[in-house]
Amino acid sequence: MEPEKVKTYFRQPGVVEHYLHAANSVGLWHSEEKLFTRLFAWDDSLLELGCGAGRIAVGLWEIGYRRITAVDYAKEMVAEARRINEMFEYGIFFHHGDALKLKYEDNTYDGAIFGFNGLMQIPGRENRRQAMREICRVITPGSWFVFTSHDRDAHWRAEFWQEQRALWDAGKQHPELTQFGDLYYDEPEGGMMYIHTPTRDEVLEDLAAAGLRHEADALRNELANEPAGVREFADECRFWVVQKPE
Ligand SMILES: C[S@@+](CC[C@H](N)C(=O)[O-])C[C@H]1O[C@@H](n2cnc3c(N)ncnc32)[C@H](O)[C@@H]1O
Repeated sequence: MEPEKVKTYFRQPGVVEHYLHAANSVGLWHSEEKLFTRLFAWDDSLLELGCGAGRIAVGLWEIGYRRITAVDYAKEMVAEARRINEMFEYGIFFHHGDALKLKYEDNTYDGAIFGFNGLMQIPGRENRRQAMREICRVITPGSWFVFTSHDRDAHWRAEFWQEQRALWDAGKQHPELTQFGDLYYDEPEGGMMYIHTPTRDEVLEDLAAAGLRHEADALRNELANEPAGVREFADECRFWVVQKPE
């Protein structure tokens, strides 16, 4: 699967509208707020990757963070995020850019976030490692990077993954998919959507390969009891807290 094809999905009006609704009506999850406020100081400069229409960046601004740069490779998403920023006269910097090739100097930010499984929407394991390396490069030593993924080890999805295993063993997976755990399925907002669902061990290997230190990981429902609006918008996921070594 080519990264460009995934980008095309995110640029569609229905998909942009979906993430605009998230920015306006869903807001920061309780789990996100809990983690971010524990890890990041109020004056830290924060980089958010895959910001969509601004749900997380706007939420961070509204709870008091003031040094936020947020990036997305879909320029239609960035335009909507900028519109919210201007309407409320917030001071977030929204940039158009690709997490695989960040245009920032080494050691620029005090923390980074790639929320709502966006990192897992980068197709190809080597590409995901490349994004991790880039994020590691632009944050200062000792800084935290928080991201989420779905969880292939989750017991409530065991039957689904057994069915997928049978499909892949028979060579009947979608022809564009290359790694077990990849999914490509129809979403009502805009057609076929790509996402990779890793095992916990796989993420740990990728972090090590990218030079990031694993600090902790936990399921969202272990961190907070999310309201119905959040649970409808986004399934259970695993939060990862990792660090650029000192
Ligand atoms: C699941 S959406 C999350 C949007 C937003 N963070 C939210 O929670 O509402 C993932 C976002 O990541 C962006 N994205 C995916 N791959 C990217 C990449 N390589 N570089 C920059 N943005 C990317 C997509 O355009 C999309 O807006």
